[in-house]
Amino acid sequence: MKSYSESFNKRSRLNRIPEINEHAGGILAPLDPDGLTDRLAASLMIQNDFYPCFDWTFPPPLLNKSEAPASVEALFQHPSVIPENFSLYLHSPFCKSLCNFCYYTIIPGRGVEKAERYVDYLLREMEMYADIMAGKKCESVYFGGGTPTFLDDHLLTKLFEGIHRYFNIDVDAEISIESSPGTLPREKIELLISLGVNRLSYGIQTLDEELLAGMNRHYSVTEAMQELDIALKLVGNVNVDTMYGFENESDTALLDTLTKFHEAGIPSLSIYALDRQRDNKDKALGLPPKDEAYEDKIRIFSEADGFLFRQGYRQVLQNVYAIPEKSTYRHQVRRWDNLTLIALGVAAQGYAPRTPYQNFPALKSYYRAIDEGRLPIVTVDHLSAEMELIREVSSQLRFTRIDLDAIKRKYGVDLDIVFGDLIASLIELGYLKRELNTLRMTGDAAYYNNIIPMLFAPDEFTQRLMGLPEEYLETFPVPSVMVQVGCTQSAPIEISLSE
Ligand SMILES: C[S@@+](CC[C@H](N)C(=O)[O-])C[C@H]1O[C@@H](n2cnc3c(N)ncnc32)[C@H](O)[C@@H]1O
Ligand code: SF4
Repeated sequence: MKSYSESFNKRSRLNRIPEINEHAGGILAPLDPDGLTDRLAASLMIQNDFYPCFDWTFPPPLLNKSEAPASVEALFQHPSVIPENFSLYLHSPFCKSLCNFCYYTIIPGRGVEKAERYVDYLLREMEMYADIMAGKKCESVYFGGGTPTFLDDHLLTKLFEGIHRYFNIDVDAEISIESSPGTLPREKIELLISLGVNRLSYGIQTLDEELLAGMNRHYSVTEAMQELDIALKLVGNVNVDTMYGFENESDTALLDTLTKFHEAGIPSLSIYALDRQRDNKDKALGLPPKDEAYEDKIRIFSEADGFLFRQGYRQVLQNVYAIPEKSTYRHQVRRWDNLTLIALGVAAQGYAPRTPYQNFPALKSYYRAIDEGRLPIVTVDHLSAEMELIREVSSQLRFTRIDLDAIKRKYGVDLDIVFGDLIASLIELGYLKRELNTLRMTGDAAYYNNIIPMLFAPDEFTQRLMGLPEEYLETFPVPSVMVQVGCTQSAPIEISLSE
């Protein structure tokens, strides 16, 4: 028997499944199901402009407000829902230059001279987690940035040796590294393969010369394609990142770029909508900031989606299209399963059971914490058991799809009962699709894909969003939208769910 708190599953009730209301002692007047659908439709009319999503994690890291735990043991105080496995994320903040669109905190150019010291600290950080992860198997390693392939060969070697020294890396583990043109000569690829790398994620963004010229990336389309060609021959399992939504972008820039990558045989393509949340300064108070390119982005995305489907790619994540038999994407997909994710390096985001966390974003504080023998964590969030479940539901809904049977086995919760009316309304509105025992969001949900998953969150989530300081509320439109959507909720009831 699993018990969830009073504020859980409040909006599902009841008209469609009267026995739940009976179980709750009939304390709630049943909602009118058509009323719910109408209210949802009206509430969801409010657009938000962070397409395809305003944050890559749920709950958003801006809710990470608690102080770092005193010890590794305290960080891992809750049992994992996948106890025998974990993943690793390593972060290298160094890049050749700063691309003018980039929303990551990076150290460009000569800053890489600091990398020697940085790698030593990464190894010390690995050592801190070694004991608690002993006996568990690491099923994927993702080395991201920044541009990790910008690091010298001896540093890459040191890091990969460190991973094997401190962790039990499964022989079949997926080991990915991010790269960008100009940092990946043939010899480096050969070195990476010898170190166990079996997947490359290559940021090329566009093959439109004019667009590329304005990005501060310092290579030509021909050079990028030559490097990519070698990577594809040697590694095979290659993903390429592309972007769209730039001001001076032609109508067909993304499609032309994707066509060329498809013709070159790239088995996995990620498409990112330009996100300007970090430089969007002129927002009107109280109103969600409007992205002028929003409608164009939706159109470009849906054209790309259709094109990639026709070429045999399948949407494996919200923005990742892959030919399944020619590529792997385990790390990205497992990220939404509440699998433990050890985060190493500045600004890295990790997940300990029921405790999402984030490392210090600045080198100085990161180094200081490690020197003092502390994990270099700046903040954590503490999730209730139901919030952990909804973390998985929301993330899977948005990025992959929910397997209802798997959720039932893992958490003892039948989402069809708990959220029966919400699911039915979203299907009726054309935003959710049921395929056997899985649910996924449809293309029509594109406008609302920040909001719809949050409808499943407990009240505590909305309350915490609304409790954020004003500067956050100005920056993120979601809380104000949530309040309006929140009117679909009924009062809390207490309910226990049998496994
Ligand atoms: C961490 S970066 C690493 C890739 C590599 N450094 C490169 O750029 O070639 C991962 C991807 O994030 C995407 N990205 C960076 N800034 C972005 C922004 N402002 N909006 C949307 N996507 C962005 C780019 O597609 C980039 O390839
Ligand atoms: S190379 Fe990649 S991580 Fe570095 S600034 Fe450019 S987009 Fe950002």
